Amino acid sequence: MARKKIGLIGAGNIGGELANLAVLKQLGDVVLFDIPAKENFAKGKALDLEQATSLSGADAHVTGTGKWEDVAGADVLIVTAGIPRKPGQSRDDLVATNLPIIRDVADNAKKHCPNAFVIVISNPLDAMVYEFKRRTGFDAKKVVGMAGVLDSARFALFLARETGASIKDVRAMVLGGHGDDMVPALAYTTINGVPVRQLVAKETLAKIVDRTRKGGGEIVSLMGTSAYYAPAAAAIAMAEAYLGDQKRLLPSAAYLTGQYGCKDLYVGVPVIIGKGGVEKIIEVELDEEERGMLKKSIDSVQKVVDVVKASA
Ligand code: NAD
Ligand code: LAC
Repeated sequence: MARKKIGLIGAGNIGGELANLAVLKQLGDVVLFDIPAKENFAKGKALDLEQATSLSGADAHVTGTGKWEDVAGADVLIVTAGIPRKPGQSRDDLVATNLPIIRDVADNAKKHCPNAFVIVISNPLDAMVYEFKRRTGFDAKKVVGMAGVLDSARFALFLARETGASIKDVRAMVLGGHGDDMVPALAYTTINGVPVRQLVAKETLAKIVDRTRKGGGEIVSLMGTSAYYAPAAAAIAMAEAYLGDQKRLLPSAAYLTGQYGCKDLYVGVPVIIGKGGVEKIIEVELDEEERGMLKKSIDSVQKVVDVVKASA
């Protein structure tokens, strides 16, 4: 059976790590795409990655390109095209620059990769994945945003370090928009089945929730740019769930049609990802406080999406 084709749109920090992980996990042949002015950069990164397969033994071809024709027919597209934050910026500050970029990507994806499962990473995430789906008209099951898996991973790490538990045993769930008002769902955050509320003092838990919400900004302030190792690992977990029909339950930005009282918006919710893409949206019970936080987060997403729709 022919290897799958993984198109990575954006050959920058996350794109390079996505390519590295896709090759090491032998998800398929990788095409690393960037704008024509960065084609040689993409080609050089691809050649470097291919040379590394001599050591890993990974059977995967990696090509770099500035031509969408080379991405044609991709089974999976992972979109990181766009600028990342600089210290002091919010994700929403990126919309003016990244909106025309996501529209360019959407137009080309519609033409060259109509059957791909698309994982959008570009920020502001919830608005960019919304616009990608709106612009392409793709089935909502085949367009998903990566944020919740990353935010949940950050939450899980902080809890593992606080409790001394193995990271293997921490299951965290962060819902809502990919912004500073995201919703760490404590009722669905456990350590090998033990609710974290029974393991971590309330005040400490509140500090960990706050650090999770600001987790992206913490790394931007340290590095001067956004994180890329954990975001790439998060998106690859989603791609693997699709390619391997794994039926993973993962918090992801999914298109809501009434779930959680929300319509025509992408918001981070628990979903099942398998060969059909976003196969199911799971409506979990939330307490009154969590429902209020989710409503606040949804309202924040709606504000940015309204800016996007106003410029359509
Ligand atoms: P980066 O600057 O390293 O890479 C972005 C790449 O996109 C650049 O190489 C640029 O040339 C390319 N690009 C620009 N316009 C393009 C176009 N029209 N088509 C294809 N490629 C194009 O940035 P990065 O660190 O890889 O971050 C990428 C995006 O992901 C940013 O918007 C960042 O905010 C976002 N991000 C999201 C999450 C998340 O959880 N969703 C996490 C981290 C970063
Ligand atoms: C950022 C990513 C985490 O902007 O969304 O830092």
